[in-house]
Amino acid sequence: MAKARVGVAGLGYWGPNLVRNFDEIAELAWICDLDGDLRDRFAGRYPRARATGAFAEMLADETLDAVVVATPVPTHYALAKQALEAGKHVMVEKPPAMRAAEMDELVRIAADRDLVLMPGHLLLYHPGVLKLKELITAGELGEVLCIYGNRQNLGIVRTNENALWSLGVHDLSVILYLLDEDPETATAQGRDFLTPGVEDVVFCFLSFPSGKIAHMHLSWLDPHKMRKITVVGREKMVVFDDMELDRKVTIYEKSPWKRAETYGEWQTRSGDISIPKISTDEPLRLECTHFLELVGGTGDKSKVALDGARVVRALEMLTESLSGG
Ligand SMILES: NC(=O)c1ccc[n+]([C@@H]2O[C@H](COP(=O)([O-])OP(=O)(O)OC[C@H]3O[C@@H](n4cnc5c(N)ncnc54)[C@H](O)[C@@H]3O)[C@@H](O)[C@H]2O)c1
Repeated sequence: MAKARVGVAGLGYWGPNLVRNFDEIAELAWICDLDGDLRDRFAGRYPRARATGAFAEMLADETLDAVVVATPVPTHYALAKQALEAGKHVMVEKPPAMRAAEMDELVRIAADRDLVLMPGHLLLYHPGVLKLKELITAGELGEVLCIYGNRQNLGIVRTNENALWSLGVHDLSVILYLLDEDPETATAQGRDFLTPGVEDVVFCFLSFPSGKIAHMHLSWLDPHKMRKITVVGREKMVVFDDMELDRKVTIYEKSPWKRAETYGEWQTRSGDISIPKISTDEPLRLECTHFLELVGGTGDKSKVALDGARVVRALEMLTESLSGG
């Protein structure tokens, strides 16, 4: 089968990673950026791809199968909508829209036209996160009770988007993927210590109809560089730590055991600690490959779009709560 013809819009910090991957596993047909210098630089590197500053010119190519959007977040909805309406499959960096209603509209357009709408939730393709999902699905942890994410560091201090939008989308996508439930409450508190109106430190709390709860600590004002997700089950507990090189996932056979008959107090059980081997496959390569599979008609294309909509809904609830709305 012929390789899908893909165009990538946005050649800033992240776009070049997408360009490299699609050049290797698809036919990179177009590169697009408003910035002429960037276009010239990438046109030199990828001479077979056509370069343009006009997104519409790329969409007008009837032989183009799919478009990848790696432009700033506020532009995602409009560009993704334009591409879907032009009949292109779309992979769009996270989040695809800033409002749930806009995301629902994108999901509807994609479904009506039988097109792929895939948000770039990179962590869902991380072999460590896939291991967490596998452990939960297999019932290894027993009933899952709570999940919390730590995404902290000192810097990079952003001045345009707050810690929830810059850092939180990653953890939120993982938590919702692992629990496969919509939160019934999602609240956030934060402070704009450095740039007025831009929260540098955000704490989020989510609760789910099943009784599970989740928490996220998001900050670029912190002494620790942490990229960690902890899942607490009734039987076992597991930690995914992306800062570790060779122990990305650690499983703790720790749990409350039973009430001591004499005192009615809980006893705890501490068994083996194990470290499963986690593949070192590049998550972005896996993500791009999945997109191409969906474009090629393999897999459930509505799932990625609906999962993305769930993330935007929760993000909207957290944002409203953070701004006191
Ligand atoms: N998955 C990840 O881990 C990850 C990491 C970093 C960034 N991202 C996402 O990638 C996206 C881009 O982030 P970035 O840091 O690369 O931003 P950036 O500002 O470095 O680059 C964005 C580029 O888009 C171009 N652009 C803007 N509007 C355009 C338009 N209408 N048509 C064509 N080009 C346009 C700009 O000229 C710029 O070169 C964001 O959504 C961000 O959330 C994802």
